Amino acid sequence: MNTKDILKNNEQWVAKKLKKDPDYFSNLSKGQAPEVLYIGCSDSRVTAEELMGASPGEVFVHRNISNVISNLDLSAMSVINYAVKNLKVKHIIVCGHYGCGGVLAAMESKDLGILNPWLRNIRDVYRMHKTELNSITDIEKRYRRLVELNVIEQCVNVIKTADVQLANKDYGLTVHGWVFDMATGKLVDLNIDYSSILDSIKEVYNLID
Ligand code: CO
Repeated sequence: MNTKDILKNNEQWVAKKLKKDPDYFSNLSKGQAPEVLYIGCSDSRVTAEELMGASPGEVFVHRNISNVISNLDLSAMSVINYAVKNLKVKHIIVCGHYGCGGVLAAMESKDLGILNPWLRNIRDVYRMHKTELNSITDIEKRYRRLVELNVIEQCVNVIKTADVQLANKDYGLTVHGWVFDMATGKLVDLNIDYSSILDSIKEVYNLID
């Protein structure tokens, strides 16, 4: 895919949209009111809108390597803050995917340079769940389980934020953990339970009242 093709595709897309609705872009430019914040991996195969069947304006998106939510990441924290305080999204979805390169890299004890501090977040997930993970002898299955546990722990990281705790209390914001299985195209719901997660961590992380 070269850049000339991309610009040509854009022209065709504009023409197609305008043919269907001459006011499409003037309406789009009026503002956004998405109900979903999607936090996913940067992997080119795991699109945000397309796999959910969503259109422009419907999903607020944040993507990084292996869908990590670190409280030191000003970008992710700002996205969450804006999504709940201004947009008042109803759902935050953390979506990982099987075959995630970042998770695979984190499974190796190896110096990966600038990636080290980022992958540390996933290595910490491994450490927290090493008894379960090491009991899985099939490496492929262990890798898939780490992908799932990483999504769950990143959901916990989302729930640790005061912004999310306040939004849950104020208007019932919920948090979901999903895994995209690119071998089937399906989204797997890990059935995150907001209340039980908050209950299990609130002794230390309850920031509101
Ligand atoms: Co990935």
